[in-house]
Amino acid sequence: MSSLLVDNIGELITNGAGEGPLGIRRNAAVLIEEGRVAWVGPAAYAPAADRRVDAGGAAVLPGFVDSHAHLVFAGDRAAEFAARMAGEPYTGGGIRTTVGATRAASDDELRATVRRLRGEALRQGTTTMEIKSGYGLTVADEARSLRIAAETSAETTFLGAHVVPAEYADRPDDYVGLVCGPMLAAAAPHAKWIDVFCERGAFDVDHARAILACGQAAGLGVRLHANQLGSGPGVLLGVELDAASVDHCTHLSDADVAALAGTAHTDGSGTRTVATLLPGAEFSTRSPYPDARRLLDAGVTVALATDCNPGSSYTSSMPFCVALAVREMRMTPAEAVRAATLGGARALRRDDIGVLTPGARADLVVLEAPSYLHLAYRPGVPLIRQVLLNGVLQ
Ligand code: NIG
Ligand code: FE
Repeated sequence: MSSLLVDNIGELITNGAGEGPLGIRRNAAVLIEEGRVAWVGPAAYAPAADRRVDAGGAAVLPGFVDSHAHLVFAGDRAAEFAARMAGEPYTGGGIRTTVGATRAASDDELRATVRRLRGEALRQGTTTMEIKSGYGLTVADEARSLRIAAETSAETTFLGAHVVPAEYADRPDDYVGLVCGPMLAAAAPHAKWIDVFCERGAFDVDHARAILACGQAAGLGVRLHANQLGSGPGVLLGVELDAASVDHCTHLSDADVAALAGTAHTDGSGTRTVATLLPGAEFSTRSPYPDARRLLDAGVTVALATDCNPGSSYTSSMPFCVALAVREMRMTPAEAVRAATLGGARALRRDDIGVLTPGARADLVVLEAPSYLHLAYRPGVPLIRQVLLNGVLQ
């Protein structure tokens, strides 16, 4: 059994036992065996190992967990972005443009895009990335989107209910029947989760409830796009269905916040239904940011994710989202880094990632900086020096 010691860590973020909300240990070392964290402790007491990575006094943290990304698509919508920056609002109407391009693309073209974006994210410290379908919207195109997503990630999400495609525009009930029937049957073998865009102009609460219930019955976990463009019933539906996460949460009522807080564990270990905030979407659609403080102060577990997609948020960078969360959403740097690591893990109901404690997967990032604070303090700077995925240096 070969072992690897990540040694001489100036500041180790464990998200477990240690100083402050990030469980910080100073002058630390991490021993990795068989792709898992085997030991964490003071560098002075580090056990011998077959190989050694010298962190040179830098900060080390768990790899980022990006729990919300739409990577299976073709084409881009740069012109739509430019029009938005000139004053056009974002409505989600461009999704159908990407659906057309995706349907016309070959498997290899889609595969190349997924790999390119996954590679981009990995170089920016993302060690787990959820991938949604949702730009195929036929039985065959949703199934192949998920098949291709599953080649790259174990966290795959069936989003056949992204929008009603043009050919079903005047018969949405029929489209819901298709999603719940043959499309779900073809998608489920390649998917772990089901998601619905529950929003005016996409799916109403009754359709969303029906689709999510079918997904649950097929063994998929529930997540939801909720309350992005306006207030609505999405968050409450997510809580009702024990969703792992409700995502966007830009327009929340007091009842939404109370319902999310009401899913909190009494031992303080987090909430059943996480609020995942996607500040890249507000940045790229020039919209008001979600009120992260209100959620955090109510005791809700918050995750940060990129929402990487060609329409509302074409970034794969978790460090960028951390910087936005601190600057624009008044999260502390510690809250933002926790949300981008442990928060994402909770949004995926995983306890083996997002932490650096014995038994966890050895997914680590070595920063080109002495402290995690630099992730927000030095926006736009490539601060990811090394990434270990499952204990393997990338
Ligand atoms: O999460 N809101 C729905 N879906 C994506 C946007 C998709 C698109 O514009 O292509 C989102 O923001
Ligand atoms: Fe999204």
